[in-house]
Amino acid sequence: MTRPHAYFAGTGRGVPAKIMTNDDFAAIGIETNDEWIVSRTGIRQRYIAGPNDSTCSMAATAARQAMKRAGVVEGELDAIVLSTATADRLLPATAVDLQAELGASRSAAFDIGAACAGFIFAASVGEGLIATGNAETVLIVGSERMSSIIDWKDRSTCVLFGDGAGAAVLKRVPAKRSLKPAGILSTYMRSDGTLADLLYRPAGGAAIPFSEAVLADRSYLVRMAGREVFKHAVRSMADATDRALDIAKLTPHDIDLLIPHQANIRIIEATAKHANLSMDKVYVNVDRYGNTSSASVAIALDEAIECGRLQPGQTVMLVAFGAGFTWASMVLRV
Ligand code: UT7
Repeated sequence: MTRPHAYFAGTGRGVPAKIMTNDDFAAIGIETNDEWIVSRTGIRQRYIAGPNDSTCSMAATAARQAMKRAGVVEGELDAIVLSTATADRLLPATAVDLQAELGASRSAAFDIGAACAGFIFAASVGEGLIATGNAETVLIVGSERMSSIIDWKDRSTCVLFGDGAGAAVLKRVPAKRSLKPAGILSTYMRSDGTLADLLYRPAGGAAIPFSEAVLADRSYLVRMAGREVFKHAVRSMADATDRALDIAKLTPHDIDLLIPHQANIRIIEATAKHANLSMDKVYVNVDRYGNTSSASVAIALDEAIECGRLQPGQTVMLVAFGAGFTWASMVLRV
């Protein structure tokens, strides 16, 4: 069967209650200001997890909402594919904690690590499981507690990130289908590990385990060469939009809404310009969320559907870029 194999049957999000504005950094001793953050990034606030908000709990909130909207119960899930850079524990995968939390006892559950591009990677994996007949119904999730892994003493990174989760239920497109069924029309994924050290956590893994020295120099936290990452993000997101359109045999004219990874408004604007889409066709919430890594596109997709920016029958392009580097895109009809 040609595409589409799988469609997004329901979406959801799980976001902490606590909001941190740009002005709140002064209180924790960070030398920054609202003007700098807004002009360089477009971010005005972000959500920060409280003590009871884990990567799994935010994922569960998002997942339950997505399942309710999809009309799916836990026993129907064949697989849970969870993308995160902030697993609650190093072993086992956060996906199995989510499986237990949901009571999805028939489901296979595993994490994938593709950073900010992870939700699109997860959707591609989910589509593959459905296309090969290995699954009928797949829960895909992007969930991040970025506040746990950023260096709250480094002003060049700590102002950028936020916490949250987004989820979607993918279901098999019925054999008897309409002329233009909802579903995934194209996917594109790329990685370049030669650039890994531009955005990474130097220590705390198996290669350089935790030690007093690691704790002292804070090398278990995120380090980023911002300007370099920026340049690659613009280039790779442009590549990804071209490729997803090409694979779907569509042109920018066919796209009703672009949902880019929400890291920086300047990267979003450059991506839209390259894709020949005016900003009124671009969903932006970076001002409210900051960069929630792999939750970013998932949260934005859920909001766009909920507020009616995306209507049934419309075509949306998702595109993201992140640590790895990884970058990915997807065109789908909702
Ligand atoms: O999720 C995907 C991965 N991440 C990204 O896509 C992020 C990509 N990078 C970026 O978005 C931008 O590079 C940043 C927003 C991180 C930085 O913007 P920039 O325009 O590239 O600034 P910069 O790093 O070149 O820093 C410019 C100046 C520096 O001062 P000097 O050396 O010019 O005196 C920094 O020290 O801004 C200073 N600075 C700050 N000032 C106030 C850096 N962070 C801050 C801050 N507040 N929070």
